[in-house]
Amino acid sequence: MVVPIALAQTQNITYNITIDRLPPLAFDTKVVIVTNPTVAGFHLDTLLKQITAKELHVVTIPDGEGHKTLATVENILNECFEHKLDRKSLLIAFGGGVIGDMTGFTASLYQRGIDFIQIPTTLLSQVDASVGGKTGVNNQYGKNLIGAFYQPKAVYIDPEFLKTLPTREFAAGVAEIIKMAVMFDKEYFEFLKNADLSSEVVLKETIARSVKLKAWVVNQDEKEAGIRAVLNYGHTFGHVVENETNYTTYLHGEAVAIGMVMANALAVELGTFSQEEADEVKRLLEKASLPTTYCIENVDDFYAHFFLDKKSANNRIKFILPQGMGNYKMVSDIDESLVKKVLSRFGGEI
Ligand SMILES: NC(=O)c1ccc[n+]([C@@H]2O[C@H](COP(=O)([O-])OP(=O)(O)OC[C@H]3O[C@@H](n4cnc5c(N)ncnc54)[C@H](O)[C@@H]3O)[C@@H](O)[C@H]2O)c1
Repeated sequence: MVVPIALAQTQNITYNITIDRLPPLAFDTKVVIVTNPTVAGFHLDTLLKQITAKELHVVTIPDGEGHKTLATVENILNECFEHKLDRKSLLIAFGGGVIGDMTGFTASLYQRGIDFIQIPTTLLSQVDASVGGKTGVNNQYGKNLIGAFYQPKAVYIDPEFLKTLPTREFAAGVAEIIKMAVMFDKEYFEFLKNADLSSEVVLKETIARSVKLKAWVVNQDEKEAGIRAVLNYGHTFGHVVENETNYTTYLHGEAVAIGMVMANALAVELGTFSQEEADEVKRLLEKASLPTTYCIENVDDFYAHFFLDKKSANNRIKFILPQGMGNYKMVSDIDESLVKKVLSRFGGEI
């Protein structure tokens, strides 16, 4: 199955996202695969069997979000110089979103930009991070604050790689899938309610539907001036949860799951989402073994944390809320007291 991406509105860029077993790939240029020890341990042999190139090198960087830094990007750049890559050379990102974001960013920088392709190996990166060309790294001021919009030449999504993914990481990817369904596609939400993601056929269809939705969003708004911001549903609250728990308790997708429950509670209060719909989302998150409860110790502190988010422009919090299942609403003028009233209900079990 191939999902085409065409960014004709902003620039004349098109590329294909292939969702299938990884095909043989032949390059008449130098190629550097960027991966980490975890992914390499499980899958590098499989990848190497599929790739031929004029010269093939593998750069292994340490695993983890903590290494998503400019220093690591500089190490990858140095490897590119050591191997004398030229402007026709290619980088391959082989790993989850961390590898994908950093490899894409490195590709955007090396000699002012060389090609790269994405071969994502986590569910989150297959349905979300590998599509759309957001690349970058974290620094002391926050996550993904340094980066570039830089599109890959192609994306190859092989669900087979997910067989070695830890259960929690898989569930974190499901959170992003549910997010897309609630925001954009009621029928897809209904499909997910009955979907058995342990079935290879169902998983492949689920990935394809999510990728199509993401591509549809990115095609309209590559640089997040409008609809692409809707992908932050659950993130405004989720970032505060991650921050309050020092990024150690929850995976990002887990925090987003809690964030969606909170956003839904606000939407119910505003009358854009029914309690039944909010309950349905919660049940689907729970079916995927995602957390849906969080105890807010101090509502004022929680609220103040919203303003640390780079998306809270001009001191206004932009909330992305469901407006009925499969539709969204962006609101930035919600009364502080109303938000706090909803947050106060999370003082314990949701
Ligand atoms: N560019 C975007 O549009 C975008 C969108 C969403 C998230 N992101 C970024 O993605 C990152 C999160 O991505 P992630 O959730 O993939 O995390 P990750 O890249 O850290 O991967 C999670 C863990 O799974 C391991 N892993 C990867 N593939 C595996 C496999 N097949 N089998 C076993 N283990 C495997 C990794 O080594 C890592 O330990 C964040 O940095 C986030 O900012 C980017």
